[in-house]
Amino acid sequence: MSVLAGKIAMVTGSGRGIGRAIAMKLAGAGAAVVVNDLDDEPAAETVTLIEGLGGRAIACNGDVTASDFGDRIVHAALTGLGGLDIIVNNAGYIWNTTIQRNTDEQWQAMLEVHATAPFRILRAASEHFRASAKREMAADNLVQRKVVNISSVSGMYGSATQVAYSAGKMAVVGMTHTLAKEWGRYGVNVNAVAFGFIETRLTQEFEEKPAEIEVRGQQFKVGFPADMAKQMHQRISLGRPGRAEEAAGAVYLLCLPEADYITGQVLICDGGRL
Ligand SMILES: NC(=O)c1ccc[n+]([C@@H]2O[C@H](COP(=O)([O-])OP(=O)(O)OC[C@H]3O[C@@H](n4cnc5c(N)ncnc54)[C@H](O)[C@@H]3O)[C@@H](O)[C@H]2O)c1
Repeated sequence: MSVLAGKIAMVTGSGRGIGRAIAMKLAGAGAAVVVNDLDDEPAAETVTLIEGLGGRAIACNGDVTASDFGDRIVHAALTGLGGLDIIVNNAGYIWNTTIQRNTDEQWQAMLEVHATAPFRILRAASEHFRASAKREMAADNLVQRKVVNISSVSGMYGSATQVAYSAGKMAVVGMTHTLAKEWGRYGVNVNAVAFGFIETRLTQEFEEKPAEIEVRGQQFKVGFPADMAKQMHQRISLGRPGRAEEAAGAVYLLCLPEADYITGQVLICDGGRL
């Protein structure tokens, strides 16, 4: 099925986890994809996997929080693949503690990656979106474009130890509602998907010591003790965490032409909360 044939997408943080699954899903439906990650190796693997499907992908790696990154990735899409129709703001990580231990640095880091980076990317894309829409409307041929911002149930409902993360994930929801209003006239659908418990390296179960991931040379503890993970599963209607491919499915739905009249919405993809 090539329902997205001819479309050009960018997916940040697509070297691993949900981002990779989204990039693969969009590519599998025919979109060409700009892959991004902090880490070159997993991003290169995603490009190779897409090429293995017969798809087209390029990498624009680097830290989404760099002040010039928005301009750089939009430029990469326009010059490297010849356009930009779908933006998925997915890159992110967690840095958890209770509020009394939450430093300013931690707060800033979470807002930078989950809110400021998507803002700069979308600001950088705005010229392309507006100019393309004006040209296409003059030819009576407006192309519908899509933004999907990745949020979390932690932003929607709160989650202990995630004061900064949840603030960042809710900031992106506010941005989604506002840009849906600003960009509706240009045919851009702006939606968000808020994930619950999706199996990736961020949510891995551990018996004794939490796993650690490295982000920009810094180590972060991730995951849940196995007994806590079991309790969390019991609070999910479907009784289990989601797979990255299932998470990608929710993003994909919002990128389809069938979703052309859906904008300013937050789709919750969490297996159902009990
Ligand atoms: N896994 C879950 O249960 C869950 C739930 C809700 C929301 N989310 C969100 O989904 C998104 C993807 O998370 P995941 O679970 O797939 O994590 P992951 O760690 O498996 O993948 C995230 C990728 O983003 C990259 N990344 C992180 N910071 C970056 C930066 N500054 N610049 C560029 N790349 C960066 C990482 O290197 C990694 O490859 C995140 O925004 C996360 O907050 C995940």
